[in-house]
Amino acid sequence: MTDILISTSSFNLDDNPGIERLRTAGLSVATNPFGRKLTESEVGELLGESVVGLLAGVEPLTEKVIGDARNLRVISRLGVGMDSVDQAAAAKRNITVLSTPDAPVDAVVEMTLGLMLATLRQIPAADRQVRDDGWPRLKGHLLKSRTVGILGLGRIGTRVAALCDAFGAQVIAYDPLVDSSSSGVKRVGLSELFSAADIVSLHLPYSAATHHIINADTLATMKPGAILVNTARGSLVDETALLAALQNDRLLSAGLDVFEEEPYAGELRQLSQLVLTPHLASSAIESRRQMEHEAADNLYQGLREAGIIDPGKPGNGDQS
Ligand code: 8YV
Repeated sequence: MTDILISTSSFNLDDNPGIERLRTAGLSVATNPFGRKLTESEVGELLGESVVGLLAGVEPLTEKVIGDARNLRVISRLGVGMDSVDQAAAAKRNITVLSTPDAPVDAVVEMTLGLMLATLRQIPAADRQVRDDGWPRLKGHLLKSRTVGILGLGRIGTRVAALCDAFGAQVIAYDPLVDSSSSGVKRVGLSELFSAADIVSLHLPYSAATHHIINADTLATMKPGAILVNTARGSLVDETALLAALQNDRLLSAGLDVFEEEPYAGELRQLSQLVLTPHLASSAIESRRQMEHEAADNLYQGLREAGIIDPGKPGNGDQS
């Protein structure tokens, strides 16, 4: 019987103090046997009726999964986005839900800049052509010459804005939830952002309110030749409308790390100017390690607070 399930697809169990403390407290730990994002039924089956604590990636923790996991007390997410967890269902069952909002920031920010530069200068296409005996004289734009429109000025969007500014780019941003005096970034309305930005970069949480915020209508208002970068969540973008905008040369390119269905197997793969990565933005070794350690610590603390781990027992004390 498993007590702790690690459902995220990759997790280094070695040298993780939180995992050691969970094991010392007598809890058994099982990992994701598939090495990829689990489906709803797979995560449900692995949770069974015994698991009390879950270290979660982005697999769907729906009302059904949460309702069926009889003994589950704590969900500890590796990462910042909470859209994969039905938080209302968790609250109803009195399950604590925790996350690591700071740990992925540097990795996602650097990946975002990487996707901007890779799309602007067509780095992957040039690489493919050299391997194919080509020597292409591809020309791209400087980031310094571009106007970057940031949608969402949370931890990640704010840092992306600062780095684009350091490159010498013009930076504009839209975020109705963040006080306009707080970030030092020029704030504009959404329609102004779409019409002025050469690069639109998404840093919003996914919810019903932000579903397909990039759609046929918004794409039609974007600057001709613009580039879309998405390291946030796939369902912020209507991929059918994006494909059409790229095929009609309305948009020049896109750098996408996230997709509506993951793993992604759709038609955007046929467009050679795009840069597509498999939801890797947080996967820098340093950030990943921090996420794994923080999530395991959060789980340990959550289970202590839920009374599953007895702090009075030898070895179970607070070592933080
Ligand atoms: C994934 C993410 O959680 O921070 C987030 O919300 O999307 C990522 O960090 C991570 O890759 C899953 O292990």
